[in-house]
Amino acid sequence: MSRTKQAISAWLRAITQSSWRSSTHIPSSLRVVSEYSSQNPTLWRTFTRSQKSSSTAAACFGFAASRLLHTTTTAAASSSLSSALSSASSALLTQGLSSGQRKALTWWLGGCTTWVFAMVVLGGYTRLTRSGLSMTDWKFTGERPPSTEEEWQTEFSRYKQSPEYQKVNKGMTIDDFKFIYWVEWGHRMWGRSLGLLFALPAAYFASRGMINGALGKRLGLLFLMGGTQGFVGWWMVRSGLMENPNNHYDIPRVSPYRLAAHLTSAFAIYTTLAWTTLGVATGGALSPPTTTAAAAAARKLRRAALPLTLLIGITAVSGAFVAGLDAGHAYNTFPTMNGEWIPSEYYKIPGWRNAFENTAAVQLHHRLLALSTLTATVLTWRYGTSKLPHLSKSAKTLLHVLMAGVAGQVTLGVTTLLTYVPVELGAAHQAGALTLFTIMLGLLHAVHPVGGGGSGLRLLSKAAAPVTALATLGIGAAVTQME
Ligand code: HEM
Repeated sequence: MSRTKQAISAWLRAITQSSWRSSTHIPSSLRVVSEYSSQNPTLWRTFTRSQKSSSTAAACFGFAASRLLHTTTTAAASSSLSSALSSASSALLTQGLSSGQRKALTWWLGGCTTWVFAMVVLGGYTRLTRSGLSMTDWKFTGERPPSTEEEWQTEFSRYKQSPEYQKVNKGMTIDDFKFIYWVEWGHRMWGRSLGLLFALPAAYFASRGMINGALGKRLGLLFLMGGTQGFVGWWMVRSGLMENPNNHYDIPRVSPYRLAAHLTSAFAIYTTLAWTTLGVATGGALSPPTTTAAAAAARKLRRAALPLTLLIGITAVSGAFVAGLDAGHAYNTFPTMNGEWIPSEYYKIPGWRNAFENTAAVQLHHRLLALSTLTATVLTWRYGTSKLPHLSKSAKTLLHVLMAGVAGQVTLGVTTLLTYVPVELGAAHQAGALTLFTIMLGLLHAVHPVGGGGSGLRLLSKAAAPVTALATLGIGAAVTQME
């Protein structure tokens, strides 16, 4: 077996074995892989076939996913998302590492986090420039862009059959088509490069024994989430490429449910990656409390910060519905909606779908959620800075930054609305939401108990369960209602 395969197998072993010492022993990890492959010949064949077609990233993902799913099915509930997160947080991710090794891991994970951030902004730009439906095909291993004029014409003629061309872009020039094609291609390639940026160093670090069981599980989860995101993206795009008789919008667009699922899942990947980076960088908490009073203050702030994180998350998901319905192009006044506090079109579609498919309702909900976020942030900021004198300096600083961030995001949202969503402001507003998440995570890390069982993250993962359930409901609704 080549060195790359050895490294991959060592990493896979780290993912699935809780004992980190054994994960550093490459020969025994090879035995695990070969034993596993003899029990699962089909999976192994798929793995080697993919290897032959030189799609190492796809093979890595497929095999890691199958291994992880195998663990999931045999270990049933114990390997659910929340337990993977909380068990990983309770063990120290960097146990036994030198500071140089921790630094290397931090640079790598920090680089991946930044890459995901850029990917989300690029995704927003793709949507805002209406480039997302330009490529009518999707392959896991990537698409080769046209290189000759003839190939461009063939690609263009495929696009000409899509509902978007027929109803919105009829008469578009080939140069305009090339622009939207390159934007979408860039977005997809950015994602695939992330797969390599993530997997190759992971394999290298595993082969050097730098990834223990807890970190391995977290990385395995992230790899699975990243791979799934590609499928979710294509699932979303497909809904905009098909002629849909039930589509009651005037122009073809992707299902808002699928867009929300894609954005929510991007946020989830970013959050998990950023949290893991913080854990590795600090080796515990950002500023461990040194006195009992400081620990109590951190605990109190944590209780207030967790629901606020959830509220910011819900506001962001509601923003995805505003974007998905192009609701930013209606009611372009603030604070009233075309002179009314509650627009007369508020209830137009029977049942719960009104909340997700009626422009007036979707926009009003996003405004209300954003204003509730602002109010909750002011209250948390006041509580932390004036009622908790023993709170650490870094937590207080982050509270000020959070206050400024939320005020900035609300201002940006209102400006975006009043100016009819120009591309730059729309993309900046999306980046702003992710920035708020980053600040919030920094704050949660600053008040995170060191070696205390990761109660902050446990609570967060508990909160994640209903949100995941809601997202699943949204996906179910998308399948039943939008097709
Ligand atoms: C804490 C405050 C806020 C957060 C976290 C937030 C978050 C978001 C997110 C994540 C999106 C989706 C972006 C995309 O997919 O492109 C969005 C869209 C949007 N938000 Fe907000 N938002 C906030 C406040 C506001 C406010 C106060 C307004 C205006 C009243 C507003 C107006 C909009 C508009 C018009 C869009 C659609 C932009 C587009 O089509 O790209 N937002 N918001």
